[in-house]
Amino acid sequence: MDFFSVIKERRSCRNFLPEPIEEADIEKILEAASWAPSPLNSQPWEFIVVTNQEVKEKIYAEGERCRKWALEKSGWKWLGSYPLDFLRSTPAIILVVGDPKKTGVDMFMEEGSVGYQAACSAAIQNMHLAATSLGLNSLWFTLFDKKAMREILGIDPGKTPLALVCLGKAGSPPTPTLRKDVKEKTTYIR
Ligand SMILES: Cc1cc2nc3c(=O)[nH]c(=O)nc-3n(C[C@H](O)[C@H](O)[C@H](O)COP(=O)(O)O)c2cc1C
Repeated sequence: MDFFSVIKERRSCRNFLPEPIEEADIEKILEAASWAPSPLNSQPWEFIVVTNQEVKEKIYAEGERCRKWALEKSGWKWLGSYPLDFLRSTPAIILVVGDPKKTGVDMFMEEGSVGYQAACSAAIQNMHLAATSLGLNSLWFTLFDKKAMREILGIDPGKTPLALVCLGKAGSPPTPTLRKDVKEKTTYIR
């Protein structure tokens, strides 16, 4: 698949087949993540690869707890019918953990210290695109409490669990999504 097809083919998947994925594919996806740019090349990411069913059940329970809490807080009806069972069936979940200390010169700026998150997001997107190019499906998942995720996976309190990348083969085709015309989002200053 050429580069632009990979970008357009990637879709968020919320229905994974339970069959395991190759370790070699996971390694390629992590390698792709590690080539993302970062402030001062600080590489502020760490990856925790979860294939253990018991741990996936804990992540699912945490997602469910947050879904119910968010439903109550927001009143958004769609949260009432947003099943998170895919967290149990996805064969591999990679938690991306960021290090706020590795954030570059923006730490001295008034609205700073987002560099580490931006770098981790670049790494996460590389993971999704690598998965697509390997014929896998994926989801960027953030419906969890950071403290709870630190406890589930034994993460240092100074580090920030930023996202789960769910990986596997789709059980049914992911829902197509649309994009606004990029021209509506672009200003040229010539
Ligand atoms: C920062 C971020 C957080 C997201 N968190 C979630 C999430 O918690 N649960 C979920 O189902 N999708 C999540 N998504 C996926 C988006 O819903 C999805 O990318 C968007 O609806 C567009 O669909 P597409 O990825 O299929 O094009 C997240 C995406 C991003 C970039």
